[in-house]
Amino acid sequence: MLADADAAAIAMREYFTGLCADRRARPRDDLVSALVQVSDADSARLNRDELLANLMLLLVAGFETTTNLLGNGLRIVLGEPSLRSGLSGGSVPAGQFVAEALRYDSPVQLTSRRATVTAEVGEVTTAPGAEVITLLGAANRDPRRFGAPNEFRPARRAGQPADQLRRGRPFLPRRRPGPARGGRRVPPAAGPVSPDGPGG
Ligand code: HEM
Repeated sequence: MLADADAAAIAMREYFTGLCADRRARPRDDLVSALVQVSDADSARLNRDELLANLMLLLVAGFETTTNLLGNGLRIVLGEPSLRSGLSGGSVPAGQFVAEALRYDSPVQLTSRRATVTAEVGEVTTAPGAEVITLLGAANRDPRRFGAPNEFRPARRAGQPADQLRRGRPFLPRRRPGPARGGRRVPPAAGPVSPDGPGG
């Protein structure tokens, strides 16, 4: 499986290398052409590796997430006929449906952070520089945050995806190393019980 992932990453990099060469030779009014021009004009601003990494990030971040949300949402609708009629009739607002689909079957199940300080998250202590894998999918099913978390309920008032870790500043995205500072306690990822209480 890792070999397949490596091969796919290499193939994607080769694809974007070719695409950049094409846009360098024949610029268009598009993002790839604009980024190639920035990189060619000033590699200190955007070097070749950064150019390719950003293009790969944008493809995966923009494509995997949206297609998976559409697919997961469709599967939910097909499995529950009342949702289908509620959506078409307007009794289930589309926005609430999407927010609950993001919680119930999130396209992004995990992400990571680099700890910048000594921090306690629940019962785990992280050292400065440690990489922390955050399981967003599990947090979105935490019964302390969402009542009946395994049920799809578009009317939840607290139906937003878990965002506890995005509120604090003790962690930075993995690729940005940060200075070590004093120790700090971080609330558990699950956070407090929602304002709705466990029934929400
Ligand atoms: C249903 C759609 C989407 C979902 C659920 C989603 C989810 C997320 C999440 C959870 C993160 C934070 C990751 C982290 O902080 O570790 C993120 C970051 C990001 N997303 Fe999306 N995303 C979606 C659509 C898109 C689209 C359409 C694009 C671009 C075309 C995009 C580009 C990005 C980028 C560039 C980042 C990184 C931002 C940074 O590191 O500062 N996303 N997304």
